[in-house]
Formats: sequence, C-alpha cells, structure tokens
Amino acid sequence: MTDATACPVHHSFDPLGEAYIADPYPILTGVREETAAFYAPSIDMWVITRFDDIQAALMDPATFSAAVGQRPVFPLSEEAQSIIKAGFHAYPVMSDCDPPRHTRIRRHNQKSFSARRISALEPKVWAKAEELLDAVEPGSGTVDLVSALTYPLPAYMIFTFIGFPDEDMDMLKSWCGNRIAFSWGRPSPEEQRDIASNMVNYWQYCEEFVAKRLAEPVDDFTSDLIRIHQADPESLPVSDITNVAYGLSFAGHETTTSFTGNAIRRLLVNRPQWDDLCADRTLIPQAVEEILRYDSSIPAWRRITTRPVTVGTTDIPAGAKILLLLGAANRDTKHFEDPETFNVHRDDSRKHLAFGQGIHYCIGAPLARMEARIALDLLTQRAPAIRLVDNQDFDFPANVSFRGPRKLLVHWPH
Ligand code: HEM
Repeated sequence: MTDATACPVHHSFDPLGEAYIADPYPILTGVREETAAFYAPSIDMWVITRFDDIQAALMDPATFSAAVGQRPVFPLSEEAQSIIKAGFHAYPVMSDCDPPRHTRIRRHNQKSFSARRISALEPKVWAKAEELLDAVEPGSGTVDLVSALTYPLPAYMIFTFIGFPDEDMDMLKSWCGNRIAFSWGRPSPEEQRDIASNMVNYWQYCEEFVAKRLAEPVDDFTSDLIRIHQADPESLPVSDITNVAYGLSFAGHETTTSFTGNAIRRLLVNRPQWDDLCADRTLIPQAVEEILRYDSSIPAWRRITTRPVTVGTTDIPAGAKILLLLGAANRDTKHFEDPETFNVHRDDSRKHLAFGQGIHYCIGAPLARMEARIALDLLTQRAPAIRLVDNQDFDFPANVSFRGPRKLLVHWPH
C-alpha cells in the first residue's frame, strides 16, 4: 500500500487473485484494519472496508448509485458486445437501478415477496428438498451436494415461483453456466461469446414467456405482475416485467446455491457445531444468520459515486466505481465480538450486512433464509454422519462479488 495524497492506493489488492479467491477473509481483515477506503488499480475501483462506512453508503443512494451493479467489471470483447447488442435487451430494473424508477418497480415486486407469500412456498421447498435427497442412495459413497441439492433446490424454487414450466428447467439451467463471470469476473473471449449467446437465449425465452402470461395469466409471480400491468399499464410496462423475470431467475438462484454450499462446508469444518445442530435443530435459523455473517455468498457489492465524497480520510471523486466489502464489514470488531470466530451460538450475527441495507435490501432474503434452513434441517436429520471428503480442492469462481464452492464432496453414510 502507498499513501498518495489523500487517496491510498493498494497495488496488491486483487479480488481475482488466487489467494483472494481461495480465501478472501484474511485479506479483507487486513485491508479493513489498515484503512477505511483505498483505490485498487487491479479492478479500477475504490474499495470501502468498514461496517459504518459501508452501511452509510448503502443508506445514501443519491451519492452511491446502484447503476453499475450488473455492468461487466472488465471490457467485453467486440464479438460478445455484438451478440449482446443483437439479441439481449435487458435494462436496469432493481439491483442496478436508482430512484425514482427503482422505487416504482420495487413497490410492485415487494407484494409478491411478502413474508406471507414466501411462507406459503415452504411446503414446496420441503417437498423439493426431500425429493432431491431421496435420490441420494444410502451408502452411495461420495456425493457432490452442489449437484445433488444446493444447485437444483433454489433453481427449481425460483423458476417455479416465476412460473417457468418444469419441462424447461434443464434447458434454462444449461443457459445459466458461468453467467457470474460475465459481469463480475474476467472471462476469456471464447467464454464471453458462449455466455453472451446463452444470455440471448435466456432473454428471448423470458420475452416469449411473459408474452404467454400476458395472453393468459395464471397463478404465479409473473401473472401477478401482469395483473398490475393490466390495471395500470404505465406504472408497470410489459418490458419491465420481462426484465424482472430475467433478473430474478439469476438473483434468486446462484446466490442461494453458493450460500447453502458455504453453509454446509462451514458447519462440517466446524464439526462440533454441526453436531450441535444435529442434536437441536431449533438452532438452525440462528446458524443461518451466523453463516450469512461469516461466509456469505456475496462478500462484496458495487456502487458508483454521483459526487465527490470522503470516506475516512480518503477522497473519492465523482464517477468512481466502488466495491463495498460486505464480508469485511461482517467481521468488523467495532460491531461484532470476537468476529473471526465462527459461532452458531452467538447472539449478534443478525446485524450482518449480507443482504445489504436500505432501499436495495435483498428482496429475496426470506426465500434464501428458508431454503438454507430447510436444506440444513433435512441434512442434519437424514445424514448427521456426513463428512467432507478430505483434501478436496474447493473450486470458487473467480469474480469480484459471488462466492460459493462449485462442488462439495461429502462421504454419505450407510
Ligand atoms: C443467501 C442468498 C442471497 C444473498 C447473500 C443476497 C444478497 C443480496 C445483496 C447483497 C443485494 C444487494 C443490496 C444492495 O444493492 O444494496 C441483494 C439484492 C437483491 N436480491 Fe438478493 N441475495 C440472496 C438471495 C436472493 C434471492 C433468493 C432472491 C430472489 C428470489 C434475491 C433477489 C434480489 C434482488 C431482486 C435484489 C435487488 C433488490 C433491489 O435492488 O431493490 N436475492 N441481494
């Protein structure tokens, strides 16, 4: 780190570097202890490290615009750009949108994500999780819990919630591969081309799907939005609905796959705490909060400044791309006692910023919590003796925001 005038520059901070991808937390703690904010040339972003400053940024959308939330961190190849230009017409609706547009669209969506609507889904989540675990034979030896459970469960739930038919699931899933890399990582030109083509397929599918629901609404989330549109077309145009369906099918899926993977891994590594959950499953909701604090699937999120601002002693210009280190905030000693210790029994976990705060607070938080809770409940009931396969190579996708193992191998008991 060098201290250049009022803007510290951190030349070695690289969220796509091998050490960070393998385990970002020692690095996050190091930078938080060093300084409140700095410039990182590796990603051309200003990085904010402490709980109070991150919370203040989240609560000040006029200064910290969300507009940059989904934009590729690194420039796209010309080929990928032309594929996108020709067939992909998504525009900002929620996570990358500012008021007043954001306020209008979020209001319409909020109703469908109410606690009541989400808890009505609970029997479906149980049934799907049970079906998935029924397919794992006792004594099957080594099982990859990502492909067996943590990937298909949230995928199925969010696709069903939106209203996508069951028979399209495999096709939809095949289009999702590596989408994280597109906006948050540094994919090769070949990968960019493939991801861009899949995004176009997915986008066109969403357009056709919404047109079908417009012609014939049924009982699902998309049809709820169609009814709002029919009552007041200007307040929610059909194109907004297509964008929401597209955006949610991503936001509601890989976030939770990764989170549940982190949860199982973290608990199995801390075996006595896994055993505590097996002995008393009422501890699970509290454990979910501790995993959100300690090992969330979104340890960093983005903003862009609309005016010059000072964070700590660091002057940040207008138009600066910002990385908010949520994972560092969630281990800030000012807010959490003994924050580097993973402890499902602690009572201060829920103050975490894993779902953000303020106007963009994660709309899917109740669903994500429910899915993780049910997955853990079933696993602790059915397979309390599972253990991680030794010396496995956890493969985390290289990107600035999302974190979760692509595979999670466990020994499945007899
Ligand atoms: C453990 C899993 C999840 C985590 C860690 C997570 C985290 C986040 C975070 C950090 C934000 C950004 C807040 C901000 O910009 O200030 C966010 C926004 C959002 N999340 Fe989640 N999320 C998860 C699951 C879900 C699920 C299951 C859904 C949908 C069903 C979802 C839908 C959204 C949407 C639509 C937004 C944008 C909201 C807005 O801008 O108003 N998320 N989430």
